[in-house]
Amino acid sequence: MAKLSVKDIDFKGKTVLMRADFNVPQDANLNITDDTRIRATLPTIKYILEHGVEKLVLISHLGRPDGKVVAKYSLKSVAVRLKELLAQDVLFLNDCVGEKIKQEIDAAKEKVVLLENLRFHAEEEANDANFAKQLASLADIFVNDAFGTAHRAHASTEGVTHFLKSAAGFLLEKEIQYLGNAVQNPAKPFMLILGGAKVSDKIGMIENLLPKADAIIVGGGMSYTFLKAQGKQIGNSKLEKDKLDLAKSILEKARGLKKEIVLPVDNLVVDNIDLNAKSEIVGEEIPEGKIGVDIGPKTIKLFEDKLKSAKTIVWNGPLGIFEMDAFSKGTREVAQFVSTLGAVTIIGGGDTAAAIVKFKLESKMTHISTGGGASLEYLEGKLLPGVTALTDK
Ligand code: 3PG
Repeated sequence: MAKLSVKDIDFKGKTVLMRADFNVPQDANLNITDDTRIRATLPTIKYILEHGVEKLVLISHLGRPDGKVVAKYSLKSVAVRLKELLAQDVLFLNDCVGEKIKQEIDAAKEKVVLLENLRFHAEEEANDANFAKQLASLADIFVNDAFGTAHRAHASTEGVTHFLKSAAGFLLEKEIQYLGNAVQNPAKPFMLILGGAKVSDKIGMIENLLPKADAIIVGGGMSYTFLKAQGKQIGNSKLEKDKLDLAKSILEKARGLKKEIVLPVDNLVVDNIDLNAKSEIVGEEIPEGKIGVDIGPKTIKLFEDKLKSAKTIVWNGPLGIFEMDAFSKGTREVAQFVSTLGAVTIIGGGDTAAAIVKFKLESKMTHISTGGGASLEYLEGKLLPGVTALTDK
């Protein structure tokens, strides 16, 4: 990357402000249910601590509290988890800016301080320059390791870089390296697996990657709009009516480029989306009243036959309602198959990452992105403000 890295910085005696993405899921009792994003920042945190830093001040958002203090979005439980993971005390402060916070950081005997949710202040998402300046005044150097929030131009990701020398953390660098290589210089054949509910979420990515990919494999909710665009019956399955023309034009464009878009040839269908619903396999035509919830066995086989020669696979979006066990077979079997191929396998964040974690295949994939929206925007070919704002090397 052409940006400063933590490896370029002399941390001795310095106070470091580090933006992380600790936006982790919590249950009703505020227990963290998946700490992947916290663990993913540990290499950067440990590196900074091992290089003579005076204080490491961590900042993040959690959820979307919209500029108000909302107790369930406090980062308090993240501080507890961090303390366990680092085996070192972490001081948690109940705000992120102001003179009092500054004094508490200075007086802290702990090396690591975590500040309260940035989004309790509306100025964070507004990228308010004064708020960014206040954040910057807490430290000598800024490090951004929040890849998951790199697509947001907020005070703590973009604004703050106008006031401090700003370097990329290891997680941010690793994400850009894997996602960047996969799309700029993929080992061929390069195949995309796309799924998830909506065609509209994936248009940018299809347009950016269709010319580079050798095949695009489509399943999940979005496949029904494509099947309908081909004139097939889809019963009561998810349809984005206003995207039918777009789906047709994508299919035409793919034909023009001699690229294959591989769609389901059979489907698992139900009458109602319910855990105990009676299901059956039908062909590519879905009968009246039926709802598609997963790909069928012939489609699994078809997708595997296409994928077996792939050297690079980028996967974004599940192939069925994988959260419900009865409808998870397609996503699970294709994931298991992909994990055995020896190809470079890049898993987009969000639901796709959750599916891979559910199937316990994390260690078998080359890279699982910690950013849902951020990885999608990067794969759409967009610049990420949190990355572009960092100091050039
Ligand atoms: C995410 O979970 O995708 C990031 O933490 C960004 O969160 P946001 O979509 O609320 O900005």
